[in-house]
Amino acid sequence: MINVGIVGGTGYTGVELLRLLTLHPKVKIKAITSRSEVGINVADMFTNLRGHIDLKFTDPADAKLNKCDLVFFATPNGIAMKQAESLLKAGVRVIDLAADFRIKNVAEWEKWYGMQHACPDLVAEAVYGLPEINRELVKNARLIANPGCYPTAVQLGFLPLLEAGVIDINHLIADVKSGVSGAGRKAEVHTLHAEASDNFKAYGVPGHRHLPEIKQGLSSVAKKMVSLTFVPHLVPMIRGIHATLYAKLTQKINLQALYEKRYQNEAFVDVLPTGKHPETRSVRGSNICRIAVHQPQNGDTVVILSVTDNLIKGAAGQAIQNMNIMFGLSETLGINQIPLLP
Ligand SMILES: NC(=O)c1ccc[n+]([C@@H]2O[C@H](COP(=O)([O-])OP(=O)(O)OC[C@H]3O[C@@H](n4cnc5c(N)ncnc54)[C@H](OP(=O)(O)O)[C@@H]3O)[C@@H](O)[C@H]2O)c1
Repeated sequence: MINVGIVGGTGYTGVELLRLLTLHPKVKIKAITSRSEVGINVADMFTNLRGHIDLKFTDPADAKLNKCDLVFFATPNGIAMKQAESLLKAGVRVIDLAADFRIKNVAEWEKWYGMQHACPDLVAEAVYGLPEINRELVKNARLIANPGCYPTAVQLGFLPLLEAGVIDINHLIADVKSGVSGAGRKAEVHTLHAEASDNFKAYGVPGHRHLPEIKQGLSSVAKKMVSLTFVPHLVPMIRGIHATLYAKLTQKINLQALYEKRYQNEAFVDVLPTGKHPETRSVRGSNICRIAVHQPQNGDTVVILSVTDNLIKGAAGQAIQNMNIMFGLSETLGINQIPLLP
């Protein structure tokens, strides 16, 4: 069994880790932390877990994390980087759901995240945990930078086009919508019911923190710096990401065949038949990214539609997918739930 610790168990990605890992046949959850709920039964706080988990929340300082085989950080940015080094020294593997190890250029990370990096030496070692690109590296990784929710949907959407070299990489556009749980469980005015429901708005147009992460990933695949306009939106749903991606084709190609071939062996990427439109509710509660490819009026603009559940393929599910790969397990173990519908 893999002995697992979770730092940040009271947030939305933390409770998703708990829900999925509790039923994972190769995992024993040893510690689950919260600074605000110390001593509280996990199942008293998250009643969906009653009958499945009998742990209490522990303060991170008392959680004996160095006795675990693997620790997930489901914490805000800037927390995992302070503890990763000592955990790795103790032989513990680490998966960070936050952004501490995602950007290879440390100065760039410090600019976007507004803090000094606590262990820049580990950034180079960290593997960016998008298995559909980095599976081989994930296998031997000690430290995983789990991708952000927007970056997962956008990168999986653009990936086949970039690998095939059939689009103009200077004018990529990602117009992406997220449900409100993407902002986490902390209280903030913009996620109040009266602010976020019955409303729809863009934000972060001049620059969102996920922009450098997406550009780094796409540029690495294209082997050349891409230019991307990324516009995130907040939409009145609880979970789900819908990415509408645009690029200009530079040559004729059977796009449907390209996508079907690229993802034919990927358990968690589903390419819909020609002409279909994926819905966020068709992936809710699952680790699936569903993609459709369009070429309106047979013109030179390709439109990719890519949907995920931000808390699963965009966070906790992908983290467990990485864990499965790191520990030599079947990649789908514990995370092949059918989406919840309606
Ligand atoms: N929500 C998403 O869709 C999503 C998707 C992909 C990635 N992520 C990333 O995943 C991370 C967690 O996201 P979330 O939405 O679950 O956030 P969240 O709902 O705000 O939860 C944050 C958790 O971290 C704990 N925490 C806060 N400060 C801490 C500290 N200094 N030391 C230890 N624990 C601390 C909190 O518990 P206590 O305060 O009680 O300790 C809480 O359990 C974030 O970095 C986020 O950017 C989120």
